[in-house]
Amino acid sequence: AVKVLLDVDTGVDDALAILFAVAHPGIELLGVSCVAGNAALPQVVENTLRVLDAAGAPDVPVAGGASRPLINPTRDASHVHGADGLGGIELPATARTTHSVDGRPVGAVEMMRMLLVASPEPVTIVALAPQTNLALLLRTYPEIAPKIERVLFMGGSASIGNATAVAEFNVWHDPEAAAIVLDSGIQTLMYGLDVFNHVAVDQETAAELLTSPSRAVRLAGALIGHRMGVGANHEPVYTGLLGDAGALCALVDPDALRIERRPVYVELSGATRGQTVVDRRVFPGEDSLHGLTAATGLTDVALGVDAPRFVDLYLRTIATLA
Ligand code: BDR
Ligand code: CA
Repeated sequence: AVKVLLDVDTGVDDALAILFAVAHPGIELLGVSCVAGNAALPQVVENTLRVLDAAGAPDVPVAGGASRPLINPTRDASHVHGADGLGGIELPATARTTHSVDGRPVGAVEMMRMLLVASPEPVTIVALAPQTNLALLLRTYPEIAPKIERVLFMGGSASIGNATAVAEFNVWHDPEAAAIVLDSGIQTLMYGLDVFNHVAVDQETAAELLTSPSRAVRLAGALIGHRMGVGANHEPVYTGLLGDAGALCALVDPDALRIERRPVYVELSGATRGQTVVDRRVFPGEDSLHGLTAATGLTDVALGVDAPRFVDLYLRTIATLA
């Protein structure tokens, strides 16, 4: 199994992703770090603990991290994820608590460092949220980088944006953090809107999930249902995006993706702030991308996906949950 640290801002589709991460035998979930994004940090932590319960997860360490981006102010995504981040789906209270060592609570950066140090093999970080925790980890403990096998992140786009015309939410929310990660020299896979926007469950299938005997599957049905109704341009939509959960499908089934290895630059100023500029040119032209070199700037960018294959993988995997 792949050893994974999951970074989340739970979040309707982060919740779908957590269900998958707990269910899939190919994923060994070492810890879950939380960051402000889709909801405020305390809410993200609470949602994460409750979703782990709903998934019947073992005792996975969970920690709260950055309560705001490095430079941006905190911003609100309640129009997408509801005031509670879970679209008003009320999950039972949980007895789980955040990670502590010798009775003292441990923050996300410390927890990530400790889990990386403790792991005999390098670990994959899957980031489904603004990358503030990860950027802080890399800046605070740069010597930890070799313990990171790679970073697979949901974020960015080589085409359309969602938070702005050109910027995807996670990168837009903390562009400096994404820039630090992309320029760290660690191998990265960008699971951006180019693929994210295509992996969706139809209405009939979502309705079926609601009648499942499994509590976790019914939760998935409710979460997917929440994403149905209104599209990015306020048009009615009859499919529910799996969203962040697709990034975990990408981890276990990368062959369903069409990937190009490209320089990716995060725009940090002006109206396009937060845009990921993917240089897909065959010839460099008059200017290379802001001096990015092969050593630091190449990212595996997912540009196409066999969406039905991911939907099938997702549904088969969570069907194993109680
Ligand atoms: C991303 O932002 C959040 O709304 C989702 O959880 C996903 O991580 C999509 O832009
Ligand atoms: Ca998310």
